[in-house]
Amino acid sequence: MCGIVGYLGKKQASQVLLHGLERLEYRGYDSSGVAVVDEAGDIQVRKKEGRVAALRQEIQENPAQGQIGISHTRWATHGEPSDTNAHPHLDRSGKLALVHNGVIENYLQLRDRLAQDGHEFRSETDTEVLAHLIGTFYDGSDEADGQLRLVGAVREALAQVVGTYGIGVIHEDIPDFMVGARLGSPLVVGVGKTEKFLASDVGAIVSHTQEAIYLSDREIVLLKPDEISIETLEGDLADYEVSTVDFTPEQAEKGNFPHYMLKEIHEQPVSIENAFRGRLADSQASAVLGGLNLTPRELRDVDRIVLCGCGTALHAAMVGEYMIESLARIPVEVEVASEFRYRNPPLDKNTVVFVISQSGETIDTLAALREGQRKGHRVLGLVNSVGSTIARESDGGSYLHSGPEIGVAATKSFTSQVTVLALLALLLGRMRHLSVDYGQKMLAEIRELPKKVEQIINQSEAIRRIAVKYNEAPAMLFLGRQFNYATALEGALKMKEISYIFASGHASAELKHGVIALVSEEVPSVFIMPKDSVYEKNVSTLEEVKARKGPTIAITTEGNSELERIADEVIYIPECHETLNPILSVVPLQLLSYHFAVERGCDVDKPRNLAKSVTVE
Ligand code: F6R
Repeated sequence: MCGIVGYLGKKQASQVLLHGLERLEYRGYDSSGVAVVDEAGDIQVRKKEGRVAALRQEIQENPAQGQIGISHTRWATHGEPSDTNAHPHLDRSGKLALVHNGVIENYLQLRDRLAQDGHEFRSETDTEVLAHLIGTFYDGSDEADGQLRLVGAVREALAQVVGTYGIGVIHEDIPDFMVGARLGSPLVVGVGKTEKFLASDVGAIVSHTQEAIYLSDREIVLLKPDEISIETLEGDLADYEVSTVDFTPEQAEKGNFPHYMLKEIHEQPVSIENAFRGRLADSQASAVLGGLNLTPRELRDVDRIVLCGCGTALHAAMVGEYMIESLARIPVEVEVASEFRYRNPPLDKNTVVFVISQSGETIDTLAALREGQRKGHRVLGLVNSVGSTIARESDGGSYLHSGPEIGVAATKSFTSQVTVLALLALLLGRMRHLSVDYGQKMLAEIRELPKKVEQIINQSEAIRRIAVKYNEAPAMLFLGRQFNYATALEGALKMKEISYIFASGHASAELKHGVIALVSEEVPSVFIMPKDSVYEKNVSTLEEVKARKGPTIAITTEGNSELERIADEVIYIPECHETLNPILSVVPLQLLSYHFAVERGCDVDKPRNLAKSVTVE
């Protein structure tokens, strides 16, 4: 939530910053702004409510020239989206500029105190309070001394802050110098020879450099165009490692697709393959997940698993629960990360906690990880973003290797999460009672997934026609059972978030317990009903909807043409092992929500009120 980009070097800072903000817009798009130290040594601020395109236009009309600058794209927390509330914010002197991602929880107390000392605030934000606070501690005069004093002022101010932050700070008296700091909000330094970058996410800087340093919580970074120094908040020098970014700038572009979401749906044959590549152990008829850092003995001793996540990752966890319980017979609990962090569930010593996250930065999932570790448990991560906070803080785990996911609606990360969970279920199952034969069958089925997903994607046009037909629907129901119960929830989430149609997902048999009251001629019901062990039950539920004149859209297995006689629309998916079915059945749901959103003229990649990486509670 909120994206920060900073630049120091020889290029026009505003152009580098605008380009970076465009890459970070998925983190928030309520407003954006830049602050640049110009050639005369004055801070120039340009801010605009709305998308980065509006800021680009503003800077075109009213240029801000300079080679050092900070910038921000906002997801509003304190104060409505407006030019005034947009970052950067200045201190009382107007010489210090700050961008901030996170929440200053005690900002009202700090604001009252500063107001008593005569500070006047222009915005309603918590961030402006922090800018003023840092300003009160800064009294630099000459340049060399100024750098130390600015870092000192940042340190003293942050010591008074309760909350979370990733910040970038510049001061017009000290050109060629920038300070960054983080606690709970991600920050990465991009390393060029004679230029440096600061960003919330490597995606903002990958077209300039592939070399990155991921800051840890409670670290302050001091940047000059040719120098980096990292210290702790307490002032000790910190070690750091320069990593190479694991994707290319092209991978973060839309290419020929009209939207990132569509591109990412189409990438799934490759991303699923990347999730299992090198992890299928034919000789053992099992899977290998080396990163778990658990010995075979420890894996055999696991007697309970907790899977935590939010949103789509939570739905992947629900599929994982069914998979692990069915293949490995280990009891699994799925925990909403935001609940897990505040309740006190009993966990015993052989319980392993997994946190699942695409971004690796979701604050509630991160807090769940820390809570699990605080209680002495091993917490493993299933994460996509290499170098993210969850990836670095977990005790081991597996990367998804999906590549950058930029569309706000999660698509390829879901199928990769479920694929890795299938590998985990297979691995644990084969260490217990699954036969060699069963293991081999599973491996063969997993290998077939990319080709089958490709076949479903090829039906995009037929799915679009269904979206055209029903796009006026005021609400929709998504129904599935067993392995596809979670898929129904995921289908409903996708529909809500990008097309703004109210949608709810249910275990099919729950329909009769209340939901059926919503069925009407205007409300389509989507049934996820492959030819599996509960197919007949789903047919009965579909008939009940039909009897009440509800339009029905069925997703079923290829060759099962009988449904064409009962359902209004039928989408076919290839046959596959029941446990793996959600990896296929979710794809038509992704395409359905995509086409609904396009038909309704919605902003597919940047749905209203949302941001991709939820780094505030
Ligand atoms: C839905 C969606 C969100 C995320 C959730 C968790 O399309 O994208 O529900 O799944 O915010 O995000 P990560 O996986 O980054 O922790």
